[in-house]
Amino acid sequence: MTDTIDNQQSAIGNRQLPLGGRRIALGVTGSIAAYKAADLCSKLRQAGAEVEVIMTSAAVRFVTPLTFQSLTGRDVIVDMFAAREAEAHIEVARRADALVIAPATADCLANLAVGQTPDMVTLTALATRAPILVAPAMDAHMWEHPATRANRETLRSRGVSFVGPNEGRLATGRMGAGRLAEPVEIVGALRAMLGRASGDLVGRVIVVSAGPTQEPIDPVRFIGNHSTGKMGFAIAEAARDRGARVVVVAGPIALETPYGVERVDVKTVAQMLAALQVATRESDALIMSAAPADFRPESPAEHKIKKADDAQGLTLALVKNPDILATLPGGGVRVGFAAETRDLAGYAKTKLAAKRLHFIVANDVTAAGSGFGTETNQVTIFHDDGQVEEFPLQSKYAVGHAILDRVAARWN
Ligand code: CTP
Repeated sequence: MTDTIDNQQSAIGNRQLPLGGRRIALGVTGSIAAYKAADLCSKLRQAGAEVEVIMTSAAVRFVTPLTFQSLTGRDVIVDMFAAREAEAHIEVARRADALVIAPATADCLANLAVGQTPDMVTLTALATRAPILVAPAMDAHMWEHPATRANRETLRSRGVSFVGPNEGRLATGRMGAGRLAEPVEIVGALRAMLGRASGDLVGRVIVVSAGPTQEPIDPVRFIGNHSTGKMGFAIAEAARDRGARVVVVAGPIALETPYGVERVDVKTVAQMLAALQVATRESDALIMSAAPADFRPESPAEHKIKKADDAQGLTLALVKNPDILATLPGGGVRVGFAAETRDLAGYAKTKLAAKRLHFIVANDVTAAGSGFGTETNQVTIFHDDGQVEEFPLQSKYAVGHAILDRVAARWN
Protein backbone atom coordinates (compact mmCIF):
# COMPACT_ATOMS: atom_id res chain seq x y z
CA MET A 1 0.00 0.00 0.00
CA THR A 2 1.46 3.33 -1.05
CA ASP A 3 1.16 6.31 1.22
CA THR A 4 -1.01 8.91 -0.50
CA ILE A 5 1.04 11.88 0.68
CA ASP A 6 4.06 10.71 -1.27
CA ASN A 7 2.95 12.16 -4.57
CA GLN A 8 1.19 15.20 -3.19
CA GLN A 9 2.29 18.78 -2.99
CA SER A 10 3.39 19.61 0.52
CA ALA A 11 5.03 22.30 2.60
CA ILE A 12 8.40 21.05 1.40
CA GLY A 13 7.72 21.45 -2.31
CA ASN A 14 6.88 18.19 -3.96
CA ARG A 15 8.42 14.78 -3.73
CA GLN A 16 9.41 14.45 -7.36
CA LEU A 17 10.71 17.97 -7.98
CA PRO A 18 12.60 19.67 -5.15
CA LEU A 19 11.24 23.15 -5.92
CA GLY A 20 7.85 22.00 -7.26
CA GLY A 21 5.13 24.52 -6.40
CA ARG A 22 7.64 27.08 -5.12
CA ARG A 23 7.55 30.70 -6.30
CA ILE A 24 11.04 32.10 -6.56
CA ALA A 25 11.79 35.76 -7.26
CA LEU A 26 15.18 36.02 -8.98
CA GLY A 27 16.87 39.42 -8.75
CA VAL A 28 19.70 40.04 -11.22
CA THR A 29 22.06 42.98 -10.72
CA GLY A 30 24.75 44.51 -12.93
CA SER A 31 27.78 42.24 -12.85
CA ILE A 32 29.55 40.46 -15.70
CA ALA A 33 28.38 37.26 -13.96
CA ALA A 34 24.78 38.21 -14.92
CA TYR A 35 24.97 35.81 -17.86
CA LYS A 36 25.26 32.93 -15.38
CA ALA A 37 21.92 33.95 -13.92
CA ALA A 38 20.32 32.63 -17.12
CA ASP A 39 21.67 29.16 -16.35
CA LEU A 40 20.53 29.53 -12.74
CA CYS A 41 17.07 30.55 -13.95
CA SER A 42 16.93 27.45 -16.16
CA LYS A 43 18.01 25.18 -13.29
CA LEU A 44 15.38 26.68 -10.99
CA ARG A 45 12.74 25.92 -13.62
CA GLN A 46 14.04 22.36 -14.04
CA ALA A 47 13.77 21.90 -10.27
CA GLY A 48 10.07 22.78 -10.58
CA ALA A 49 10.06 26.42 -9.44
CA GLU A 50 7.93 29.18 -10.87
CA VAL A 51 10.46 31.95 -11.45
CA GLU A 52 9.81 35.68 -11.67
CA VAL A 53 12.81 37.72 -12.73
CA ILE A 54 13.59 41.27 -11.64
CA MET A 55 16.55 43.09 -13.16
CA THR A 56 18.35 46.34 -12.46
CA SER A 57 18.99 48.69 -15.37
CA ALA A 58 22.71 47.84 -15.04
CA ALA A 59 21.94 44.09 -15.35
CA VAL A 60 20.02 44.77 -18.57
CA ARG A 61 23.26 46.11 -20.08
CA PHE A 62 24.85 42.66 -19.63
CA VAL A 63 21.92 40.34 -20.50
CA THR A 64 18.63 41.18 -22.17
CA PRO A 65 15.33 40.70 -20.35
CA LEU A 66 14.25 38.65 -23.37
CA THR A 67 16.62 35.87 -22.26
CA PHE A 68 14.83 35.53 -18.92
CA GLN A 69 11.44 36.08 -20.45
CA SER A 70 12.08 33.14 -22.75
CA LEU A 71 13.29 30.96 -19.89
CA THR A 72 10.39 31.75 -17.56
CA GLY A 73 7.54 32.49 -19.98
CA ARG A 74 6.86 35.66 -17.94
CA ASP A 75 7.50 39.36 -18.27
CA VAL A 76 10.66 40.57 -16.60
CA ILE A 77 10.39 43.49 -14.22
CA VAL A 78 12.95 46.25 -14.76
CA ASP A 79 11.50 49.72 -14.85
CA MET A 80 10.47 51.16 -11.54
CA PHE A 81 8.55 54.00 -13.15
CA ALA A 82 6.32 51.91 -15.36
CA ALA A 83 3.07 52.06 -13.39
CA ARG A 84 2.15 48.47 -14.10
CA GLU A 85 5.54 47.24 -12.94
CA ALA A 86 5.50 49.22 -9.73
CA GLU A 87 2.40 47.32 -8.68
CA ALA A 88 3.78 44.10 -10.08
CA HIS A 89 6.87 44.21 -7.88
CA ILE A 90 4.82 44.41 -4.71
CA GLU A 91 2.87 41.42 -5.92
CA VAL A 92 6.08 39.53 -6.71
CA ALA A 93 7.46 40.41 -3.28
CA ARG A 94 4.26 39.14 -1.61
CA ARG A 95 3.92 35.98 -3.66
CA ALA A 96 7.52 34.84 -3.44
CA ASP A 97 8.52 31.88 -1.24
CA ALA A 98 12.08 33.16 -1.52
CA LEU A 99 14.06 35.95 -3.14
CA VAL A 100 17.40 35.00 -4.69
CA ILE A 101 19.71 37.82 -5.76
CA ALA A 102 22.32 36.44 -8.17
CA PRO A 103 24.63 38.00 -9.01
CA ALA A 104 24.60 40.61 -6.24
CA THR A 105 27.07 43.48 -6.73
CA ALA A 106 28.86 45.36 -3.93
CA ASP A 107 26.50 48.25 -4.63
CA CYS A 108 23.49 45.94 -4.20
CA LEU A 109 24.80 44.69 -0.82
CA ALA A 110 25.31 48.29 0.29
CA ASN A 111 21.78 49.26 -0.69
CA LEU A 112 20.32 46.18 0.99
CA ALA A 113 22.23 46.91 4.19
CA VAL A 114 20.99 50.50 4.35
CA GLY A 115 17.49 49.74 3.09
CA GLN A 116 17.83 51.95 0.03
CA THR A 117 15.79 51.09 -3.03
CA PRO A 118 17.29 52.64 -6.15
CA ASP A 119 16.08 49.74 -8.33
CA MET A 120 13.43 47.03 -8.53
CA VAL A 121 15.67 44.33 -7.01
CA THR A 122 16.41 46.17 -3.76
CA LEU A 123 12.83 47.43 -3.68
CA THR A 124 11.54 43.86 -3.85
CA ALA A 125 14.01 42.86 -1.12
CA LEU A 126 12.60 45.53 1.16
CA ALA A 127 9.00 44.68 0.36
CA THR A 128 9.19 40.91 0.79
CA ARG A 129 8.90 38.93 4.01
CA ALA A 130 10.21 35.80 2.32
CA PRO A 131 13.75 34.55 3.12
CA ILE A 132 16.49 36.13 1.01
CA LEU A 133 19.52 34.38 -0.51
CA VAL A 134 22.32 36.52 -1.86
CA ALA A 135 25.01 35.25 -4.27
CA PRO A 136 27.63 38.01 -4.48
CA ALA A 137 29.94 38.53 -7.45
CA MET A 138 32.55 41.26 -7.53
CA ASP A 139 36.25 42.00 -7.59
CA ALA A 140 38.13 40.45 -4.64
CA HIS A 141 39.22 43.85 -3.32
CA MET A 142 35.61 45.02 -3.30
CA TRP A 143 34.50 41.82 -1.49
CA GLU A 144 37.21 42.21 1.13
CA HIS A 145 36.73 45.95 1.60
CA PRO A 146 35.72 46.86 5.17
CA ALA A 147 32.58 48.55 3.83
CA THR A 148 31.42 45.36 2.07
CA ARG A 149 32.40 43.26 5.09
CA ALA A 150 30.31 45.46 7.34
CA ASN A 151 27.38 45.32 4.93
CA ARG A 152 27.38 41.54 4.74
CA GLU A 153 27.64 41.25 8.52
CA THR A 154 24.62 43.54 8.83
CA LEU A 155 22.68 41.47 6.32
CA ARG A 156 23.66 38.18 7.99
CA SER A 157 22.55 39.48 11.36
CA ARG A 158 19.16 40.20 9.79
CA GLY A 159 18.85 36.62 8.62
CA VAL A 160 19.90 37.04 4.99
CA SER A 161 21.65 33.89 3.68
CA PHE A 162 24.76 33.98 1.52
CA VAL A 163 26.17 31.53 -0.99
CA GLY A 164 29.71 32.15 -2.24
CA PRO A 165 31.47 34.02 -3.59
CA ASN A 166 33.97 31.37 -4.65
CA GLU A 167 37.70 31.73 -5.00
CA GLY A 168 39.17 31.61 -8.47
CA ARG A 169 39.95 33.63 -11.53
CA LEU A 170 37.94 36.84 -11.61
CA ALA A 171 36.78 38.87 -14.61
CA THR A 172 39.70 41.26 -14.01
CA GLY A 173 42.13 38.37 -14.52
CA ARG A 174 43.18 38.47 -10.87
CA MET A 175 42.75 35.50 -8.55
CA GLY A 176 40.71 35.84 -5.38
CA ALA A 177 37.30 35.53 -3.73
CA GLY A 178 34.60 37.11 -5.84
CA ARG A 179 33.35 34.57 -8.38
CA LEU A 180 29.62 33.96 -8.41
CA ALA A 181 28.81 30.58 -6.85
CA GLU A 182 27.95 27.93 -9.45
CA PRO A 183 24.24 27.75 -10.33
CA VAL A 184 24.00 24.23 -8.87
CA GLU A 185 25.39 25.53 -5.55
CA ILE A 186 22.93 28.43 -5.57
CA VAL A 187 20.02 26.04 -6.13
CA GLY A 188 21.36 23.84 -3.28
CA ALA A 189 21.71 26.85 -0.97
CA LEU A 190 18.16 27.93 -1.83
CA ARG A 191 16.76 24.48 -1.07
CA ALA A 192 18.68 24.42 2.24
CA MET A 193 17.40 27.91 3.12
CA LEU A 194 13.78 26.98 2.37
CA GLY A 195 14.26 23.83 4.49
CA ARG A 196 15.56 25.86 7.44
CA ALA A 197 12.67 28.32 7.05
CA SER A 198 9.79 25.87 6.88
CA GLY A 199 11.01 22.26 6.88
CA ASP A 200 9.51 19.63 9.19
CA LEU A 201 12.95 18.25 10.18
CA VAL A 202 14.46 21.49 11.54
CA GLY A 203 16.52 20.77 14.66
CA ARG A 204 17.06 17.08 13.75
CA VAL A 205 20.38 15.44 13.02
CA ILE A 206 20.28 12.71 10.40
CA VAL A 207 23.24 10.48 9.62
CA VAL A 208 23.27 8.71 6.27
CA SER A 209 25.86 6.20 5.07
CA ALA A 210 26.36 5.88 1.33
CA GLY A 211 28.39 4.06 -1.27
CA PRO A 212 30.60 0.98 -1.22
CA THR A 213 33.71 0.29 0.81
CA GLN A 214 37.12 -0.69 -0.55
CA GLU A 215 39.02 -3.38 1.30
CA PRO A 216 42.69 -3.37 0.26
CA ILE A 217 44.33 -6.46 -1.24
CA ASP A 218 47.60 -4.61 -1.82
CA PRO A 219 48.44 -0.90 -2.34
CA VAL A 220 46.83 -0.86 -5.83
CA ARG A 221 43.92 -3.36 -5.58
CA PHE A 222 40.82 -3.72 -3.49
CA ILE A 223 37.59 -5.65 -3.00
CA GLY A 224 34.59 -3.42 -3.71
CA ASN A 225 31.09 -3.50 -5.12
CA HIS A 226 28.85 -1.67 -7.59
CA SER A 227 27.25 0.78 -5.13
CA THR A 228 27.39 4.38 -6.44
CA GLY A 229 26.01 6.20 -3.37
CA LYS A 230 23.11 7.72 -5.35
CA MET A 231 20.41 6.43 -2.99
CA GLY A 232 22.21 7.76 0.10
CA PHE A 233 22.87 11.14 -1.48
CA ALA A 234 19.23 11.43 -2.56
CA ILE A 235 18.16 10.80 1.06
CA ALA A 236 20.70 13.39 2.24
CA GLU A 237 19.31 15.99 -0.19
CA ALA A 238 15.73 15.28 0.80
CA ALA A 239 16.62 15.63 4.52
CA ARG A 240 18.53 18.86 3.86
CA ASP A 241 15.54 20.19 1.90
CA ARG A 242 13.40 19.56 4.99
CA GLY A 243 15.71 21.49 7.29
CA ALA A 244 17.67 18.69 8.98
CA ARG A 245 21.37 18.82 9.74
CA VAL A 246 22.73 16.01 7.60
CA VAL A 247 25.98 14.10 7.97
CA VAL A 248 26.90 11.70 5.18
CA VAL A 249 29.54 9.06 5.79
CA ALA A 250 30.57 8.15 2.25
CA GLY A 251 32.63 5.36 0.83
CA PRO A 252 34.70 6.03 -2.30
CA ILE A 253 32.21 7.51 -4.77
CA ALA A 254 32.33 10.17 -7.48
CA LEU A 255 29.31 12.26 -6.43
CA GLU A 256 29.51 15.97 -5.56
CA THR A 257 28.58 16.76 -1.97
CA PRO A 258 25.09 18.32 -1.90
CA TYR A 259 25.24 21.94 -0.70
CA GLY A 260 24.97 22.23 3.08
CA VAL A 261 25.49 18.52 3.76
CA GLU A 262 28.45 17.53 5.96
CA ARG A 263 30.53 14.75 4.46
CA VAL A 264 33.03 12.33 6.01
CA ASP A 265 34.93 10.26 3.43
CA VAL A 266 36.02 6.73 4.31
CA LYS A 267 37.42 3.75 2.43
CA THR A 268 37.09 0.61 4.54
CA VAL A 269 34.39 -0.87 6.78
CA ALA A 270 36.63 -0.24 9.80
CA GLN A 271 36.82 3.46 8.88
CA MET A 272 33.08 3.63 8.17
CA LEU A 273 32.32 2.10 11.55
CA ALA A 274 34.66 4.54 13.33
CA ALA A 275 33.18 7.55 11.50
CA LEU A 276 29.62 6.44 12.26
CA GLN A 277 30.46 5.89 15.93
CA VAL A 278 31.34 9.59 16.12
CA ALA A 279 28.54 10.84 13.83
CA THR A 280 25.74 8.95 15.62
CA ARG A 281 26.59 10.22 19.10
CA GLU A 282 23.86 12.82 18.88
CA SER A 283 21.88 11.75 15.84
CA ASP A 284 18.11 11.44 15.69
CA ALA A 285 18.26 8.88 12.89
CA LEU A 286 20.78 6.58 11.25
CA ILE A 287 19.99 5.57 7.68
CA MET A 288 22.41 2.88 6.47
CA SER A 289 22.21 2.92 2.70
CA ALA A 290 25.89 2.05 2.27
CA ALA A 291 26.98 -1.31 0.91
CA PRO A 292 29.86 -2.20 3.26
CA ALA A 293 31.96 -5.19 2.19
CA ASP A 294 31.21 -8.28 4.28
CA PHE A 295 34.75 -9.64 3.92
CA ARG A 296 38.23 -8.16 3.73
CA PRO A 297 41.62 -9.66 2.87
CA GLU A 298 43.12 -11.05 6.06
CA SER A 299 46.51 -9.42 5.58
CA PRO A 300 46.79 -6.87 2.78
CA ALA A 301 50.18 -7.10 1.04
CA GLU A 302 52.57 -4.29 1.85
CA HIS A 303 53.77 -4.09 -1.75
CA LYS A 304 52.05 -4.67 -5.07
CA ILE A 305 51.49 -8.39 -5.65
CA LYS A 306 53.40 -9.43 -8.77
CA LYS A 307 52.18 -11.89 -11.39
CA ALA A 308 55.45 -13.76 -11.12
CA ASP A 309 55.02 -14.29 -7.36
CA ASP A 310 52.86 -17.33 -7.92
CA ALA A 311 52.74 -18.99 -11.31
CA GLN A 312 49.66 -21.05 -10.44
CA GLY A 313 47.29 -18.27 -9.38
CA LEU A 314 46.47 -16.43 -6.22
CA THR A 315 44.34 -17.47 -3.27
CA LEU A 316 43.15 -14.66 -1.03
CA ALA A 317 42.35 -15.39 2.58
CA LEU A 318 39.33 -13.28 3.61
CA VAL A 319 38.06 -12.53 7.08
CA LYS A 320 34.65 -11.26 8.08
CA ASN A 321 34.16 -7.53 8.55
CA PRO A 322 32.15 -6.33 11.54
CA ASP A 323 28.50 -5.69 10.80
CA ILE A 324 28.27 -1.94 11.32
CA LEU A 325 24.55 -1.80 12.17
CA ALA A 326 24.79 -4.74 14.53
CA THR A 327 27.84 -3.20 16.24
CA LEU A 328 26.51 0.35 16.63
CA PRO A 329 24.21 0.59 19.63
CA GLY A 330 21.86 3.50 18.87
CA GLY A 331 21.77 6.43 16.50
CA GLY A 332 18.08 7.24 16.98
CA VAL A 333 15.58 5.80 14.52
CA ARG A 334 17.49 2.99 12.81
CA VAL A 335 16.89 2.32 9.13
CA GLY A 336 18.64 -0.38 7.13
CA PHE A 337 18.65 -1.39 3.49
CA ALA A 338 18.49 -4.84 1.97
CA ALA A 339 19.62 -5.22 -1.63
CA GLU A 340 18.63 -8.70 -2.66
CA THR A 341 18.50 -10.85 -5.76
CA ARG A 342 16.03 -13.43 -4.37
CA ASP A 343 13.67 -14.03 -1.41
CA LEU A 344 13.42 -10.29 -0.69
CA ALA A 345 10.89 -10.59 2.14
CA GLY A 346 12.65 -13.46 3.90
CA TYR A 347 16.08 -11.86 3.97
CA ALA A 348 14.74 -8.37 4.73
CA LYS A 349 12.80 -9.60 7.79
CA THR A 350 15.80 -11.54 9.12
CA LYS A 351 18.03 -8.44 8.79
CA LEU A 352 15.36 -6.18 10.33
CA ALA A 353 15.46 -8.25 13.52
CA ALA A 354 19.19 -9.11 13.57
CA LYS A 355 20.24 -5.46 13.17
CA ARG A 356 17.62 -4.05 15.59
CA LEU A 357 16.04 -1.76 13.01
CA HIS A 358 12.84 0.26 13.12
CA PHE A 359 12.36 -0.52 9.46
CA ILE A 360 14.27 -1.86 6.48
CA VAL A 361 14.09 -0.65 2.89
CA ALA A 362 14.36 -3.62 0.56
CA ASN A 363 14.81 -3.75 -3.16
CA ASP A 364 15.47 -6.34 -5.81
CA VAL A 365 18.67 -5.15 -7.47
CA THR A 366 17.98 -7.25 -10.56
CA ALA A 367 14.64 -5.48 -11.31
CA ALA A 368 14.57 -2.93 -14.15
CA GLY A 369 15.02 0.63 -12.90
CA SER A 370 16.21 -0.45 -9.44
CA GLY A 371 19.65 -1.12 -8.14
CA PHE A 372 23.13 0.26 -8.68
CA GLY A 373 23.67 3.55 -10.46
CA THR A 374 20.03 4.10 -11.46
CA GLU A 375 18.13 7.35 -10.84
CA THR A 376 15.07 5.40 -9.70
CA ASN A 377 14.25 2.68 -7.22
CA GLN A 378 11.35 0.40 -6.43
CA VAL A 379 11.32 -0.48 -2.77
CA THR A 380 9.34 -2.34 -0.16
CA ILE A 381 9.53 -1.21 3.46
CA PHE A 382 9.28 -3.83 6.21
CA HIS A 383 8.51 -2.38 9.66
CA ASP A 384 9.38 -3.91 13.02
CA ASP A 385 5.65 -4.17 13.85
CA GLY A 386 5.08 -6.39 10.82
CA GLN A 387 3.62 -3.71 8.55
CA VAL A 388 4.74 -3.99 4.93
CA GLU A 389 4.53 -1.12 2.41
CA GLU A 390 5.16 -1.54 -1.30
CA PHE A 391 6.05 1.48 -3.38
CA PRO A 392 5.95 2.12 -7.12
CA LEU A 393 9.08 2.73 -9.18
CA GLN A 394 10.03 6.36 -8.43
CA SER A 395 13.00 8.68 -8.26
CA LYS A 396 15.53 8.00 -5.51
CA TYR A 397 14.76 11.52 -4.23
CA ALA A 398 11.09 10.57 -3.83
CA VAL A 399 12.10 7.31 -2.10
CA GLY A 400 14.24 9.46 0.23
CA HIS A 401 11.20 11.52 1.21
CA ALA A 402 9.12 8.39 1.81
CA ILE A 403 11.83 7.07 4.16
CA LEU A 404 12.05 10.41 6.00
CA ASP A 405 8.25 10.54 6.44
CA ARG A 406 8.48 7.21 8.23
CA VAL A 407 11.46 8.30 10.31
CA ALA A 408 9.54 11.43 11.36
CA ALA A 409 6.49 9.32 12.24
CA ARG A 410 8.68 7.31 14.66
CA TRP A 411 9.73 10.49 16.47
CA ASN A 412 6.14 11.58 16.80
N1 CTP B 1 25.52 -3.44 6.78
C1 CTP B 1 26.30 -3.06 7.85
N2 CTP B 1 27.54 -3.60 8.00
C2 CTP B 1 27.99 -4.53 7.14
C3 CTP B 1 27.20 -4.97 6.07
C4 CTP B 1 25.95 -4.40 5.93
O1 CTP B 1 25.88 -2.22 8.63
N3 CTP B 1 29.21 -5.03 7.33
C5 CTP B 1 24.20 -2.81 6.64
C6 CTP B 1 23.94 -2.22 5.28
O2 CTP B 1 24.32 -0.87 5.20
C7 CTP B 1 22.42 -2.38 5.12
C8 CTP B 1 22.13 -3.64 5.93
O3 CTP B 1 23.22 -3.81 6.82
O4 CTP B 1 21.72 -1.33 5.71
C9 CTP B 1 21.97 -4.85 5.07
O5 CTP B 1 23.11 -5.01 4.24
P1 CTP B 1 23.23 -6.24 3.26
O6 CTP B 1 24.53 -6.18 2.54
O7 CTP B 1 21.96 -6.32 2.44
O8 CTP B 1 23.16 -7.45 4.27
P2 CTP B 1 24.24 -8.25 5.05
O9 CTP B 1 23.90 -8.17 6.49
O10 CTP B 1 25.62 -7.87 4.66
O11 CTP B 1 23.90 -9.73 4.56
P3 CTP B 1 24.15 -10.44 3.13
O12 CTP B 1 25.31 -9.68 2.49
O13 CTP B 1 24.50 -11.83 3.50
O14 CTP B 1 22.89 -10.32 2.35
